[in-house]
Amino acid sequence: MYNFEFRNPVKIIFGDGKIASIANEIPIGSRILLTYGGGSIFKNGIYNQVVKALSGHTFFEFGGIEPNPRYHTLLKAVALIKKENIDFLLAVGGGSVVDGTKFISAAVNFNGDSWDICAKGAVIKSAIPFGIVLTLSATGTEMNSFSVISNDSTNEKLAFGSPLVYPKFSVLDPNVLKSLPKTQLSNGVIDAFVHVLEQYLTFPNQAEIQDRFAEAVLLTLIEYGFDYVLKDFDYNTASNTMWAATMALNGQLALGVPSDWATHKIGHELTALYGLDHAQSLAVVLPGMMEVMRTEKHEKLLRYAKNIWNLSEEHDEITIDQAIVKTEEFFQSLETKTHLSDYNIPESGIEIIIEKLKKQGKIQFGEQNALDENRLRTLLKMRY
Ligand code: NZQ
Ligand code: ZN
Repeated sequence: MYNFEFRNPVKIIFGDGKIASIANEIPIGSRILLTYGGGSIFKNGIYNQVVKALSGHTFFEFGGIEPNPRYHTLLKAVALIKKENIDFLLAVGGGSVVDGTKFISAAVNFNGDSWDICAKGAVIKSAIPFGIVLTLSATGTEMNSFSVISNDSTNEKLAFGSPLVYPKFSVLDPNVLKSLPKTQLSNGVIDAFVHVLEQYLTFPNQAEIQDRFAEAVLLTLIEYGFDYVLKDFDYNTASNTMWAATMALNGQLALGVPSDWATHKIGHELTALYGLDHAQSLAVVLPGMMEVMRTEKHEKLLRYAKNIWNLSEEHDEITIDQAIVKTEEFFQSLETKTHLSDYNIPESGIEIIIEKLKKQGKIQFGEQNALDENRLRTLLKMRY
């Protein structure tokens, strides 16, 4: 196991009726900006619960943060914060609203062009504190220090991270998931599943405890995923899925082990260029990643096949083939399409994606930097 240091300061407030507790978490006298997305919170009663909890606090509102939050929208919130002397942010939404709020919090006191935070990894020296009421379980952003922002003018979708953008608290009430459309429920399970694989499906590193934590999250997502997406709301199913998604990307599974993230990097390009939902892009890319990296990932693919899918054929390669099929079938069972052609992406898109990644200098990636241009081309071709 590699050396590591670990500190995750996010206070998780989990459970039925917990939105009311935000009142005790925000410092008295704060000037709060409540950030939200396209308005789902008005239809499902979450806004009313938040406003009730905030009675007695001074708060302003900023809505319209898009799925795949856009840089130019977020700048408008930065201007509002400066005008109104806001000193605490409350994100009420899914990964996009939370990521957008993380960016806003970092950009307010940033000197210079704040897009450099994403594009050049510019260091943030301060950030406005913020809390979260999560309304969609998927990204793990509620308990990590990462954020992914899209810039329309450059067609980029880029991530940044800083310990300064850990949320102060995150409220996870599984009841909020009741109003999610099936596509978003499915997206959540697949995103969390792939987060685990980015940290698990690499090479063995004598980190048995991390591997077993990872397997626990994968098995939970498989056990509950189908009912979560396709059956009527059930509090127990929603609770397990919600917490599994948080555990998938709160830093814990990455301790002492190598990580990959190539599927995410390619997926972000598919979203930036063709508008696929984040999880749809992962469902398309991941089976190809398993295929083209099967030599480098051989041992972990066999472990994954055995411990997750109960597969153990006479020939290793057949076992791995079946594990790849099982993975893709799992995504399809959640009614998510897994081929580029399903999303009407032209074959000319392959070279466009490769050129974009080359420009970012990212053409060697994966846990051993073994995914190069040729393998990437093969991967994308096999996903039509
Ligand atoms: O905008 P509103 O009206 O709220 O509607 C949203 C949106 O249309 C809707 N929704 C959210 N909660 C709802 C609801 N509808 C009904 N009832 C509710 N309770 O769902 C739609 C999608 O929301 P979004 O926030 O975009 O989804 P998600 O949570 O999947 O976030 C995706 C974003 O997170 C990034 C992705 O790249 C993408 O930009 N990621 C962030 C990560 C991180 N910060 O660690 C890691 C991930 O790998 C990922 O890249
Ligand atoms: Zn993801």
